[in-house]
Amino acid sequence: MLFMSFMVNLPAVYRLLPPDACSRRNHLEKLKRSKKVPCFELADPSYSPVHESPSTITMSDQTSTSYDLLPYPPYTFPATHIGKLGAIGRVFGLEAADPAGARVLELGCGTGVNLLAMAQIFPGAEFVGIDASKRQIEGGHEVLAATGVSNLRLITTDISKIEEDLGKFDYIITHGIYSWVPQEVKDAILRISSENLNPNGIAYVSYNCLPGWRMRGALRDMMIMHTGGISNTLDKVAQAKALIKFLAESCAEETPYGKYLRQELEMISKADDSYIAHEFLESDNDPLYFTDFLKAAAKFNLGYLGDADPATMITDNLPGPAAQTLKSLKLNLLATEQYMDFVRNRTFRSTLLCHSAAQLNRNLDPRRLDGLHVTSLIALKEEPTGGKPAVFTSAGGGELTVNEPITAQVFLHVGRLGKASKLVDDLVEGVSASMADRFKDLDPAAVKSDLSRVLLQGYLKKMVDFTIGAPGRRTSSSDNPEALPLARQQAARGLRISSQRLEMLNSDAFVSKLITLCDGSRDRAAIIAGMVAAVEAREFQLNENNQPITDPERAKFVIERLYDSAVQNLTNLGLLLQKA
Ligand SMILES: C[S@@+](CC[C@H](N)C(=O)[O-])C[C@H]1O[C@@H](n2cnc3c(N)ncnc32)[C@H](O)[C@@H]1O
Repeated sequence: MLFMSFMVNLPAVYRLLPPDACSRRNHLEKLKRSKKVPCFELADPSYSPVHESPSTITMSDQTSTSYDLLPYPPYTFPATHIGKLGAIGRVFGLEAADPAGARVLELGCGTGVNLLAMAQIFPGAEFVGIDASKRQIEGGHEVLAATGVSNLRLITTDISKIEEDLGKFDYIITHGIYSWVPQEVKDAILRISSENLNPNGIAYVSYNCLPGWRMRGALRDMMIMHTGGISNTLDKVAQAKALIKFLAESCAEETPYGKYLRQELEMISKADDSYIAHEFLESDNDPLYFTDFLKAAAKFNLGYLGDADPATMITDNLPGPAAQTLKSLKLNLLATEQYMDFVRNRTFRSTLLCHSAAQLNRNLDPRRLDGLHVTSLIALKEEPTGGKPAVFTSAGGGELTVNEPITAQVFLHVGRLGKASKLVDDLVEGVSASMADRFKDLDPAAVKSDLSRVLLQGYLKKMVDFTIGAPGRRTSSSDNPEALPLARQQAARGLRISSQRLEMLNSDAFVSKLITLCDGSRDRAAIIAGMVAAVEAREFQLNENNQPITDPERAKFVIERLYDSAVQNLTNLGLLLQKA
């Protein structure tokens, strides 16, 4: 099968060279020439972190921002999918807007790719993205124009300049910004999240949180001290990574510090340089406690709706006796969540806010699932045969065993959805029909309610997800295969591909070429001809018995045999639009 999986960045390899191999004079030259990692060294041997204030990366000077100099990687974020945000609202009793006709604002949208991924699947909705970095917005305009998507507006401006006249929005997303900007911008984010939010609107704000970032903050301090004398940002990043590698390798693996450093090194060495620069080396970086964030939000008349990952709100999902102890304390929701952060040593939160005046209802009611779509986060591992339980694999790779037959039947139906979605009502009806004998003497409304309740429990266990309406668009005007417009642009640029659910997928050269050719104008024969031409032009290599195929006839023969499963794979991943 062609390779396409959830993305993992390729780790860079960082070496600590002996001192004689790394003189500072030729350090930059070497870095430019080799693209290899530099050694762990001090930029200026006379530099003393004790007496000087080390330099950091600052957000802006007169003409440009730190993101103009080193743009952020253009990612999409499943947690910000407006269909999912709306469903969380509905589950907690808020009449959140249908994404199909919603108005959506993203503050600090970078290139706007996250909004673009949604704009292409919700053509009746209106999207506005703003960012201070002209370079990123210009890059976004280029991709936007190439996709032909017309319901997204990207504006270069500072968050603090946004006023009420930008209009009201149903969803306001601020991802990866709040902790890294000065206080006046933090206040502006919350002000806009309140002033520009419709009465039943939802504001998503993510931030680095405590206590987890207290420990990570120590690494940041050390990185800043160590790189304080380096002016070039990429050199700073390289040395920041080299420092953490040096520290991890210097500490015994079995010590708590050694374990922690190794774990952090794993994350840091997989991350993009741009991420490390902005996450660790920006001058502003203020992690805060969940409850302090909510106090700040309350000043702008915003209240807590829930977490973008609702399963994290549930004490029963904590391991061991922690759940029992926390329950016995009988804390309110906010205090309970704060204690859960202590238990988890949480580093990051994506908090959903709504107007303080909005009426919520935390008693979970299956009737609120009416009109929602269900998607699967599990895969069936073992069919429940001969009285054996059903075994599922969770999104995180763990195993879930379901013994109770009705619950097992519900999740069997969920698992069969694969990457597709279904109205909750339709799924529940399917389950009822498959157990008709068992339910024949029961009130159908009570059966529906009980089965929906099982789905709700699965939601809070991260087995299923809900969205208002289908999470993606499935209409195309063409009989020919047509990939999502953004996917075609990403594939043409050799980037990771954003799915309709905003997941980022890795793609090899074969799949990327296939996606670019699936533009709705070509039929099977034309796409295969395009693929063969790409082999001839050496855009990608097709191997047989570990040898590259050079004969175009042979390439055509092989591609014809791969074609159907490759296109089916794109369909399964929701990357192909289908005729309504
Ligand atoms: C860490 S990046 C996150 C980008 C995107 N939201 C994401 O998560 O991929 C922070 C973004 O916020 C923008 N930004 C920071 N301060 C800003 C401000 N005061 N006004 C507008 N944009 C700002 C930066 O230009 C940058 O694109």
